[in-house]
Amino acid sequence: MTDRFLEGRVALVTGSTSGIGLAIAQGLGAAGARVAVNGLGSAAQVGAAVDAVRLAGAPDARHFDADLSDAAAIEKMMAALAEWGPADIVVNCAGVQHTAPIAEMPTATWDKLIAINLSAAFHTMRLALPGMAARGYGRVVNIASVHGLVASVNKSPYVASKFGLVGMSKVAGLEYAGAGSRDTGGVTVNCVCPGWVETPLIEPQIAARAEAVGGDRDAGVRELLREKQPSGRMSLPAEIADTVLWLCRRQSHNLTGAAIPIDGGWTAQ
Ligand SMILES: NC(=O)c1ccc[n+]([C@@H]2O[C@H](COP(=O)([O-])OP(=O)(O)OC[C@H]3O[C@@H](n4cnc5c(N)ncnc54)[C@H](O)[C@@H]3O)[C@@H](O)[C@H]2O)c1
Repeated sequence: MTDRFLEGRVALVTGSTSGIGLAIAQGLGAAGARVAVNGLGSAAQVGAAVDAVRLAGAPDARHFDADLSDAAAIEKMMAALAEWGPADIVVNCAGVQHTAPIAEMPTATWDKLIAINLSAAFHTMRLALPGMAARGYGRVVNIASVHGLVASVNKSPYVASKFGLVGMSKVAGLEYAGAGSRDTGGVTVNCVCPGWVETPLIEPQIAARAEAVGGDRDAGVRELLREKQPSGRMSLPAEIADTVLWLCRRQSHNLTGAAIPIDGGWTAQ
């Protein structure tokens, strides 16, 4: 049976209608948290995500609608969450990607990517952290990327947003390091930095590689991994969720301001 160590806690997971965020929302639900699901998608996709989180074991799960590129929408979502919650755990997972050389990157794409991947996390954190400190327990886990630690070509806004997320999380980790106690669990802020994870986000990149090597999807995956991820294996979303869960434990009270790579050795090189 799953350890229900998050019984009585409330968690917000942005970008949890798909991929890594959905797996994290399921993991937190399985550990007993009530889960606020956020993310885009059709009514059917949103409904399926909420159902999946409930099925995983969440005592309650609800969709909190907000387009995270809109700061006012985030404020509205956080106000609604303060009544349903308030949030003890905030996982900023929503993210988008666009690949192009810097000289060809549309400026509107830059603005949108920075807004969703970086500024949205600033807004959820500034609104959630004071309450966490007052209650003595809080966890912010920002899903950055290896691209918050090292760069790759053609990803200027993505890399900028993820380096920004790592830096901002260190600042918040320091600002809240003294909140709470060992007994209450304290307030910590960390980043998880995955390498390649099997989700819809990277399908266009797999398809491009597959086409370049005149092969099928498997050939595209091999090509993508061969370049940078020494393990030769992609992570599964549920495996990223396990690290997030571990960060949420009371015993992790002194683990703050860190950027944890899950990248098969990518950033060890
Ligand atoms: N898949 C990978 O290989 C990989 C590697 C490293 C980091 N990441 C990061 O993990 C996070 C999740 O990625 P994923 O692979 O699960 O992608 P995904 O495309 O499966 O999911 C992205 C989620 O973000 C949501 N989202 C996008 N724009 C939004 C907006 N404007 N407002 C609200 N929600 C929005 C989507 O609805 C979806 O729920 C991202 O931050 C991504 O940068 C992914």
